[in-house]
Amino acid sequence: MKITVATCLAIGAGIAIVASVYSTQVQSESTVAEPVSPFDGKTRRQRLTPKGGIEIERPPGTAPAITAPGARTPEVARPQAAPIEALTGFDNVTNGASDQGPAFESINSGNVKARQSFNDNRFIFEEVEQIADGLGPTYNAQSCRECHQNVATGGASQVAEHRSGHLQDGQFVNSLSGSIVQSRATYPELVEHMYVEDSVTTLRISTNILGDGYVEAIANQTLLAIRDRQPAAMRGTAVMVPVLEADSKARIGRFGWKSQHASLESFAGDAYLNEMGITSPLFPQENPSGDRDFTPPSAYDPVADPEDDGEDIHAFADFMRSTKAPSRGPITPEVTAGEALFTTIGCAICHTPSITTAPTHTSINGGAYTVPPALGNKVIHPYSDYLLHDVGTGDGIPILPTAEFAATANQMRTAPLWALRTRNRLMHDGLSFTLQEAIQRHAGQAAGVITQYKGLSAAQQTQLIAFLNSL
Ligand code: HEC
Ligand code: HEC
Repeated sequence: MKITVATCLAIGAGIAIVASVYSTQVQSESTVAEPVSPFDGKTRRQRLTPKGGIEIERPPGTAPAITAPGARTPEVARPQAAPIEALTGFDNVTNGASDQGPAFESINSGNVKARQSFNDNRFIFEEVEQIADGLGPTYNAQSCRECHQNVATGGASQVAEHRSGHLQDGQFVNSLSGSIVQSRATYPELVEHMYVEDSVTTLRISTNILGDGYVEAIANQTLLAIRDRQPAAMRGTAVMVPVLEADSKARIGRFGWKSQHASLESFAGDAYLNEMGITSPLFPQENPSGDRDFTPPSAYDPVADPEDDGEDIHAFADFMRSTKAPSRGPITPEVTAGEALFTTIGCAICHTPSITTAPTHTSINGGAYTVPPALGNKVIHPYSDYLLHDVGTGDGIPILPTAEFAATANQMRTAPLWALRTRNRLMHDGLSFTLQEAIQRHAGQAAGVITQYKGLSAAQQTQLIAFLNSL
């Protein structure tokens, strides 16, 4: 029972919320002793504590990067070519951030080269892991593709993971071995079960990762500017999370149902551990199963940690960064009329239609990554602000189970609506089965907008739905 507090991070990390402009960082204390990894001498909590303020992310040669709690910084003017539209398509073709590489069909486990090309990295993303590769002891699936494939590799899917815990003095506490109840294991006795006392429980369905390289390339200040334009009653929360590959430097989160990660490399490490049970330099400790932990040497876990030396994590990140954004369906006059209504009634305040990525050569992710020409200065249409809102659907499970994060228990990231037409199970739990149902479930910060939606004529509602079905 060593890891009680921190395992929530299962695709969830972050310690401070940016509640107002570049606001102060709130440190959380843990009262429970956590195991230190023999690999890097750090506890999970230490790794998950974001360091420093939010950086203004700019290309070199412009004003100096400022890490400025409290300072409101104007957008920098730098002569740039006009931004161009990002590439789109569900076609397993690179967006140019990496080469396409050898024919996909010619790649096998004998000749695959991590990071060589889009096709090589896709092969690794699709690879089915076995015990000898480090799979388990607990896991949810054997390959990234099992949960991220629909139309093309990297799409969303119906696979949902299960999280649970309970309230203690009004605050969320993880289930015994972390908030994710992994549904599979390498031995029957290791399969995790929900505890009766865990009264807070939810499903979280697999999200889309196509186009996420562009999302990673959005500068911090762009997300904060979107937030600052929102009316007070609907204003989103920017979450400050650690970029693990940059020694946990803080950045605005944008990936996952709670925007719990800011970098694709950090998310890949988190997913490799929490979905597949494979440790890596960023996540070197195995998850326990119930009260059983797998501190080496363990007969249940024959492979030494870290099971991946970091090469697979890099290949996953390179793959995701090279995917095109989801493409649109046919845009008919009805769709255009529906989009106009979507904007007038206020859906677009949260579901932001267009965002421009940071200029090429901008250093992001705490200095760990530089925006390449294929991803820089591109216009995307994700229909999300990547901020958290309380729309009355919160699942009760915060990013981390601490007092500082209590507010995130009932907040969710504005679900990006691109690729919506490829999904038939909606909302974080996948338990809304029609668009009408998903819309009617919004309350809280979206209440006013939903009242307006209900006030539309039947014909207008049909137009709005036609628009959503074109995404
Ligand atoms: C068992 C299913 C499953 C597997 C396997 C899986 N994922 Fe996921 N993935 C999910 C779910 C569920 C979410 C949303 C989790 C959340 O936010 O709580 C997600 C979210 C993500 C996101 C965030 C995307 C966004 O913008 O919201 C990324 C990136 C990601 N996964 C990468 C990976 C990689 C890389 C692998 C392989 C190492 C992987 N996943 C394996 C289920 C899975
Ligand atoms: C205050 C911000 C806000 C407003 C306004 C808002 N939404 Fe949302 N929307 C969200 C959030 C947050 C979620 C994710 C909720 C969840 O999963 O529990 C979401 C989810 C959705 C989903 C489900 C997407 C998916 O991938 O499952 C649809 C569809 C949607 N919204 C459409 C709309 C429409 C149409 C309107 C206007 C009538 C609207 N939203 C207004 C914040 C907002």
